[in-house]
Amino acid sequence: MSTVLDNLLSEELKELERTGQYKRANELQSPQAPAVTMDDAPTVMLSSNNYLGLADDPRVVAAAKEGLDRYGMGTASVRFICGTMTCHRQLEAKIAEFLDCEAALTFISCWDANVGLIPTLAGTKEDAIFSDALNHASIIDAIRLSRAQRFVYPHQDLDKLAEMLTSAEARIKLIVTDGVFSMEGDIARLPQLKALADQYDAVLVVDESHATGVLGEHGRGTAEHFGVLGEGVIQTSTLGKTLGGACGGYVAGSRAVCDYLIQKSRPHLFSNALPPAVCCGAIAAIDVLMSEPERLGRLRENTAYFREQIRQLGLKVIEGITPIAPVIVGETALAIRAQAALLKRGVFVSGFGYPVVPKGEARLRCQICATHTRDQLDQAVSAFRQVVEELKLGG
Ligand SMILES: Cc1ncc(COP(=O)(O)O)c(C=O)c1O
Repeated sequence: MSTVLDNLLSEELKELERTGQYKRANELQSPQAPAVTMDDAPTVMLSSNNYLGLADDPRVVAAAKEGLDRYGMGTASVRFICGTMTCHRQLEAKIAEFLDCEAALTFISCWDANVGLIPTLAGTKEDAIFSDALNHASIIDAIRLSRAQRFVYPHQDLDKLAEMLTSAEARIKLIVTDGVFSMEGDIARLPQLKALADQYDAVLVVDESHATGVLGEHGRGTAEHFGVLGEGVIQTSTLGKTLGGACGGYVAGSRAVCDYLIQKSRPHLFSNALPPAVCCGAIAAIDVLMSEPERLGRLRENTAYFREQIRQLGLKVIEGITPIAPVIVGETALAIRAQAALLKRGVFVSGFGYPVVPKGEARLRCQICATHTRDQLDQAVSAFRQVVEELKLGG
């Protein structure tokens, strides 16, 4: 044990504590759901990605149990060494069917899907990657693993992106964007991005983690929302949010891309496959999503209702249509106090401050689910009303 290392780490931990950046996880004693037991108290959950309420859906849980009984815990190695399971193939076929694309390949997480995709497709100095400044950390780290030239364009600034595309000399050009941005809740301008990709002979990669099961008539995400599904976009997404909430991710697109990843992608070649229980649960989650589109309607109604109620309290919410409704409070310390004050009133909302978001733009990131009842949303709004008065939020 290195005392030098421990001392260094302790100093840094103290600094995090001092600056209010030390994170502590609250304990859940129940499944993830609109109403949970958190730290032994009944709590309305307003900060999960369980957008369609499938994390504790009995059909999803039963399918996961059957998967566990049938296949055991897992492959006990990587797929090409000791065999892939039928459930992996079934899940990949299900994802491809759901998204109406040629093929899909699963990974242990969407983090791994991004890390497995981006440097594999564009990994050499002759390649170039163009990335939105607010892309998810997994995209940023995936780009760091590549030797390609890097261009980070200001958030949603497509004029700047066009300039960068014009100036870059590259063999393969990859434009990478979140579909729905996790901290802002805004939607990437996919048709314009696709037009730029076509104009500059670039490939467009969209991380749909917050869009899958959320946007589009059938929940197929940003591409369906804009009516450009199947137009040569590579998607990555997670199974850890709307599609069951456990873990897992995938790349979906052409057969050639997925076949190439099977041969070359390092997380696929050197890391275990998804647990079969997760595969089978995710298949059931996609089946529920495909057969119960009314869940998407309820998600939209709840989102519109909550956003309107919050606006009426005089709070500044970043406008949009997605269930990520960030309420801007300003200073980080205020976001932390507001989170605690809401929890005292039985409502859990995560506060995010600097450096996760810019200074002065600390926020309470509210996330709405299809399965929130009107009573639960009203309870949350009432807690916000009290906290607005107590902390003088919203100016
Ligand atoms: C846009 C985006 N991409 C990737 C991820 C990572 O997903 P996973 O938990 O499956 O690794 C997240 C999760 O927060 C995300 O929001």
